[in-house]
Amino acid sequence: MPTVLAIETSCDETAVAIVKDREILSSAVASQVATHQVYGGVVPEVASRQHLETVNACLDRAIADSALPWSAIDGIAATCAPGLVGALLVGLTAAKTLAMVHDKPFLGIHHLEGHIYASYLSDRHLAPPFLCLLVSGGHTSLIRVAACGEYQMLGRTRDDAAGEAFDKVARLLQLGYPGGPAIDQAARTGNPQAFAFPDGKVSQPGGGYHPYDSSFSGLKTAVLRRVQQLTTERGANHLPIADLAASFQTTVARSLVQRTIRCASDQQLTTIVAGGGVAANSELRAQLQAAAAERGLRVHFPPLRLCTDNAAMIACAAAERLARGDRSPLSLNARSRLPLTDANQLYA
Ligand code: KG4
Ligand code: ZN
Repeated sequence: MPTVLAIETSCDETAVAIVKDREILSSAVASQVATHQVYGGVVPEVASRQHLETVNACLDRAIADSALPWSAIDGIAATCAPGLVGALLVGLTAAKTLAMVHDKPFLGIHHLEGHIYASYLSDRHLAPPFLCLLVSGGHTSLIRVAACGEYQMLGRTRDDAAGEAFDKVARLLQLGYPGGPAIDQAARTGNPQAFAFPDGKVSQPGGGYHPYDSSFSGLKTAVLRRVQQLTTERGANHLPIADLAASFQTTVARSLVQRTIRCASDQQLTTIVAGGGVAANSELRAQLQAAAAERGLRVHFPPLRLCTDNAAMIACAAAERLARGDRSPLSLNARSRLPLTDANQLYA
């Protein structure tokens, strides 16, 4: 497999990594969490400016840590869609410039393709076909991966993404930003059976429920109503935060696991690959492992640090693309939206 240097700046992490044969030779991540925490969420303009300020230092560190000369790098990649356009442009422009200066192939990578390939970095033999449960701040998708670039969307969220639901409920419980890790932490001492919340079934026009789609806005509203009721009864300072967090978290995990297992069985896929920030959730990991084991299915999770945004996963996806001959034109632009099923458009 080719050796690839990749840059990821789609949201609030400036990241550069060098990957060879599914092995991370170096990985530098400059998190902007502290900057955005003050605002309770990512501020796009602030994110772009901070990427500009940190990208060169991350590049220097990744190159120094790998101890590789430029001649050993086979390709240079950057996330080009979807994401915050101003933020994406910083990494994309840096990658194009390096590709031009060092005369290397350039590849724009779809961010979700990166999340799909994060699990490759901990398993040398993992290969399609498999079902990917992709759960991040912006997406909740069940994707049939037939091969690199061959994706079929089987399930999605109708409203909030799983990570978005974690972030909104965390704000409601005043647990801060980012919400997912805060809820995961608070739930450790809570009772997941304390409150019954709806798990977000999606009705179909002809009757019944969609087998794979999810909806988290009703769940979020149910938590809000319960918080309002408890606040009236007990006062805002006496809310059972741990029980609320655990009950919410277990509901999200159950909802995702039921749909994933059903989809894998229907599709006759025996391997499930999880990815995205929410794949770091301890309850989701436990429930999916248990449900998969019960049915003789294999499930792969990326290591915790590779669930949330990083450049190693982008480099890994780029290596797969480069190996099959894909190249992006230097005229490639950043795009705030692009369906994963259109990712092949990024290559000439
Ligand atoms: O994949 P990611 O880093 O960025 C996007 O591409 O969106 O995902 C970020 C999301 C955030 O919503 C964050 O709250 C959530 O992943 N997250 C978690 C956990 N760690 C991060 N959600 C639940 N449990 C976690 N441990
Ligand atoms: Zn992401």
